[in-house]
Amino acid sequence: MGLTVRRLKFVDFRNYRELDLDGLGKLTVFVGPNAVGKTNIIEGIQLLTAQTSFRKPTYAQMVRQGAEFARLDAWVSDDSRDLQLTLQLAEGKRKRLMNGKAKRAADLRGIVPSVAFTPDDLELARSASSPRRDALDALGSQLSASHHRLCSDYERALKNKNRLLKDEAPDSLIESIDEVMVLIGAQLTCYRAALFSRLAKAMGDYYREISGGREELQASYTPSWIDHDPETVFTATPTRDEARAALQDSLAMRRSEERSRHRSVVGPHADHLDFFIDGRNAAHYGSQGQRRSLVLAFKLAETALIEDMLGQKPVLLLDDVMGELDATRRAALLSFALDGLQTFITATGLHYFDESLVAKADVMELPLNACE
Ligand SMILES: Nc1ncnc2c1ncn2[C@@H]1O[C@H](COP(=O)(O)OP(=O)(O)OP(=O)(O)O)[C@@H](O)[C@H]1O
Ligand SMILES: [Mg+2]
Repeated sequence: MGLTVRRLKFVDFRNYRELDLDGLGKLTVFVGPNAVGKTNIIEGIQLLTAQTSFRKPTYAQMVRQGAEFARLDAWVSDDSRDLQLTLQLAEGKRKRLMNGKAKRAADLRGIVPSVAFTPDDLELARSASSPRRDALDALGSQLSASHHRLCSDYERALKNKNRLLKDEAPDSLIESIDEVMVLIGAQLTCYRAALFSRLAKAMGDYYREISGGREELQASYTPSWIDHDPETVFTATPTRDEARAALQDSLAMRRSEERSRHRSVVGPHADHLDFFIDGRNAAHYGSQGQRRSLVLAFKLAETALIEDMLGQKPVLLLDDVMGELDATRRAALLSFALDGLQTFITATGLHYFDESLVAKADVMELPLNACE
């Protein structure tokens, strides 16, 4: 089943002075009361695998209060490889190592990919597009170093541009930053639209399955240069040249609007992503259950795409989501998880799981003796 996390060790990470979990298997369930440190374990595993965490923590938040530095290690292996992945937090800096050698995050992303599913992910089915853009970029970053680089280059350019607009900088400066925005922005929109269309296709299959074949899911990607209509399915997969030309025109056309609003309104940060169930926008018409199914389909599709594109099964991290799903959706998720993915689950109690699952799992009750 590909690379498996065998052992985890955290020193002075979050609430853990020292946590050492060895002999980890296919399915581990962490059970314990609120604030005991369940999410912290999930976050630690995500930092060591995806090289980022859904909490977007600062350095100070990760190091245990009262400690100077922190260290997280994961030992992962398959039939042919033994890897030790390390994240060191010292002197205000994050340092990553593989088998003791310094590495950049870009070198490590994708080696042991992971997919996390947390209650925050229910945002993926609400009206704002930004959580969907972020989730798509986070997936793209694990799949391709160029996607990640485009995101960080674009973010930097956008910050610069917003500062210039706020300072009412001269036109010449805005024009020159717009050239950069067009180059990077067009590429980013193309990467995203292509990835989104693959993701949406896989999601459609899972959604059909989860809804018992009764409902159809569709997805829309509307680049910022097109008027967004939340009522209509629109799918664009522009070529890079088309995207460049459209972005350039739109930036020129809306320059005075950007000037008067003192912020950038055109570019991939304003692209819209929507999901439709049986033709109706899920964020505006979907029931709670439909939106939960949609988010579940999103996560399952992420794991499928990672396996497809990297040839490596991701580690599945399920933080506190059992209570968010009903029995049918829980069963769908768990049967998928048990189908070959190494899975870590947190929950406040074991009552969410049926006995046959508990029998297969290593159940760890927190607090463990090893932690404080
Ligand atoms: N840097 C830190 N230093 C010390 N303690 C920290 C640090 N960061 C977080 N904590 C503590 O960790 C605990 C939270 O852990 P975590 O979020 O993992 O809880 P949880 O078990 O997931 O709880 P819940 O069931 O409520 O989600 C809190 O008590 C918090 O104060
Ligand atoms: Mg938690």
